[in-house]
Amino acid sequence: MILSAAFIVFAGVAAVISASPSVSRRDEPNNISSPNLGYNELYRLQNQFYERFKYPNNVVEAHSINSSVFAENVQGRVSDTRNFQGRELNTEYIFGLFIPSDSVSIIGRPGDFEILQFAANQNIASASTRVNFTFPSFGGIHMPIVIDTWFTYNDKKEISQYDVVFRWFGYLLQNLLTSLDPDPVVGIKKATMALATSICTSEQTYCNGTNSQFGSQNECMTFLTQDIRLGQSFELGMNTLLCRSVHEVMIKYRPDVHCSHVGRDGGGMCDDSISYLEKANEAYYENSPWIPTVS
Ligand SMILES: *[C@@H]1O[C@H](CO)[C@@H](O)[C@H](O)[C@H]1NC(C)=O
Ligand SMILES: *[C@@H]1O[C@H](CO)[C@@H](O)[C@H](O)[C@H]1NC(C)=O
Ligand SMILES: *[C@@H]1O[C@H](CO)[C@@H](O)[C@H](O)[C@H]1NC(C)=O
Ligand SMILES: *[C@@H]1O[C@H](CO)[C@@H](O)[C@H](O)[C@H]1NC(C)=O
Repeated sequence: MILSAAFIVFAGVAAVISASPSVSRRDEPNNISSPNLGYNELYRLQNQFYERFKYPNNVVEAHSINSSVFAENVQGRVSDTRNFQGRELNTEYIFGLFIPSDSVSIIGRPGDFEILQFAANQNIASASTRVNFTFPSFGGIHMPIVIDTWFTYNDKKEISQYDVVFRWFGYLLQNLLTSLDPDPVVGIKKATMALATSICTSEQTYCNGTNSQFGSQNECMTFLTQDIRLGQSFELGMNTLLCRSVHEVMIKYRPDVHCSHVGRDGGGMCDDSISYLEKANEAYYENSPWIPTVS
């Protein structure tokens, strides 16, 4: 009901947009691509993304290794974590991360979704979407997450850039941790032990030879529970246990790429090298403007 109402409201906008000339910018330097896809098509693509994100469809995408949702040179940014470059890596982090796994993790399994807010122009779409998540490591509790996305598409209708924010993520994290025990201190302790044990078990199982990060399960546990912090909600790309927990799920896909992320120096994903000012001033995207160039 809500969806179709929104669709009717925006139908007028779509008519105006599709009246403007279609512009292909394939010939621009640096392969910038900003096709004029039109409102209706962008709305369809938005739904298509979340259909594929939803379990069990995400298993199919993850197993494809290089999901057709993404451009080869896709650039992605997820607030409170890091930037993710390229199709294969993004197939892992956007689809592989959210499929069922043996790991104990704060990552949930996405279910049904509802697009709450949507606006789009040319090749750019902005949406807020509420997704029903299930959290297997937290007693299987269900919790909605509102995900704010900006997407750009190239002329093959592949996502060429995304910028994602999980709304109220700190509040969600607090809810997950305290679901383990009514006493927050005990809840955090339980979560720390469970996450660290899971990371160390994966590391000892999959990270051998040159990928090995720790001499033993004990050495790994000491590092994760005593030498680094659990991390706050905005520290999923910093030198924290929570950061290593996010990357643990990836280890089994490509140990040579992901083992270092759970190790001592964080493998370029989990360290304290990026200041707040660098985050706020970052100029990252190169594949498409984020502001429409036709009107
Ligand atoms: C642009 O695309 C061409 C052909 O697809 C490719 O050879 C070239 O490396 C690309 N340039 C950049 C800057 O990505
Ligand atoms: C995925 O894409 C990467 C980069 O283009 C390529 O090296 C790799 O072989 C591809 N893997 C599969 C299974 O298609
Ligand atoms: C999400 O789950 C809740 C509780 O189970 C349910 O009431 C709601 O309808 C679900 N939302 C969607 C979009 O499926
Ligand atoms: C090394 O790890 C790989 C998985 O990453 C596993 O298949 C292999 O059996 C392991 N080798 C040893 C000697 O443990």
